[in-house]
Amino acid sequence: MKNNIYNIIKKSIKYSTGRNKANLHEPIFFGKEKKYLQKCIDTTFVSSAGKYISMFEKKLSKFTKSKNVIAVLNGTIALQVALKSLGIKKNDEVLIPTVTFVGTANAIKHCDAIPHFIDTSLNSLGISVEALDNYLKKIAIKKNKFLFNKKTKRRIFAIIPVHVFGHISKIDDLVKISKKYNLKMVEDGAEALGSFYKNKHAGTFGDLGIISFNGNKIITTGGGGAILCNNNNLAKKIRHLVSTAKKSHKWSFFHDRVAWNYRMPNINAAIGLAQMEKIKKIINLKYKITKKYKTFFKNNHEIQFIDQPKNCKSNFWLNTIRIKNLNISKRNKLLNILNYKDSMNCRPVWNLIHNLPMFRKCPKSNLSNAKKIEKEFITLPSSPIYGK
Ligand SMILES: Cc1ncc(COP(=O)(O)O)c(C=O)c1O
Repeated sequence: MKNNIYNIIKKSIKYSTGRNKANLHEPIFFGKEKKYLQKCIDTTFVSSAGKYISMFEKKLSKFTKSKNVIAVLNGTIALQVALKSLGIKKNDEVLIPTVTFVGTANAIKHCDAIPHFIDTSLNSLGISVEALDNYLKKIAIKKNKFLFNKKTKRRIFAIIPVHVFGHISKIDDLVKISKKYNLKMVEDGAEALGSFYKNKHAGTFGDLGIISFNGNKIITTGGGGAILCNNNNLAKKIRHLVSTAKKSHKWSFFHDRVAWNYRMPNINAAIGLAQMEKIKKIINLKYKITKKYKTFFKNNHEIQFIDQPKNCKSNFWLNTIRIKNLNISKRNKLLNILNYKDSMNCRPVWNLIHNLPMFRKCPKSNLSNAKKIEKEFITLPSSPIYGK
């Protein structure tokens, strides 16, 4: 690896974060988090009942313009519940990009279903609509309203587009494709709170969408997630499913099916509410960092800053660069120096999910772009505090 690249990246981080050491994405608390936590403890309602849960959900609903928001324990669970509520069956296949966090694929496995890996566009980090259409034409067949994989004979039930690092790409076209093939769509917007496509919030295009509030996300509840749902009946069903299927009653414990205890606790929602009250400020802080990274890499021919796709207003959760023609060993060397020597937390995208031992036998399309992305893309420190 050219020493030159290492020096450029190091300089870009210093310039954009104003720090000599920088974390990838740490949370920022400058609102009423402590006040709400104290109030929550004082009321003794720290668990899955309490006013902060519905206040947090309402705040999210207003911000995302999703009719219903159901707060749950984390983003992985949100995906699992979303698929279950839409009627996924054992051995169904679900199309997902191999460039994602393992949680997307795990959620499918937790439904006894099978991830089917597809490729990612190099420029947008989203699914290439044309490539997907061509692929499905080749490998799938429609029978009795459903889509089946010709080779495995399994039903292809759904698609989960992932808004990687906050970027949303051609989601309206993807909705059209999913309708054409009769696929359910759950948007994995774990990283995309505050990202919009044609002024519509991430997670509100498909049948359902999800968000994560893990500590490293745009806002946090400690751990947490939410399901966005515009269909009132489906939202009712989901609420029931994540609340042990208990019929509402002052004192009786009647549960009408096997269900989950996945509701977000009030104590986590208290932090979430305080964080949501600052969401616009947090995103503005992030824009300041992005602006600096963009300026820094503007005329650089070896390193490309990954900008938001067309029609997308991204939250730039993680600022990302592409170093053309990097290979895995050079990439690892670069990341080792940046992380260990300089304490500048840079990361590759994830290990491609189809290569992980538990997913190696799953069906997949040609994944040539994903393989490039794994080698050449690096995420840079993007904590909102650096925008202050
Ligand atoms: C793309 C993606 N999907 C799903 C998840 C799972 O969310 P959680 O960590 O809240 O379970 C994450 C986050 O961590 C993610 O980045």
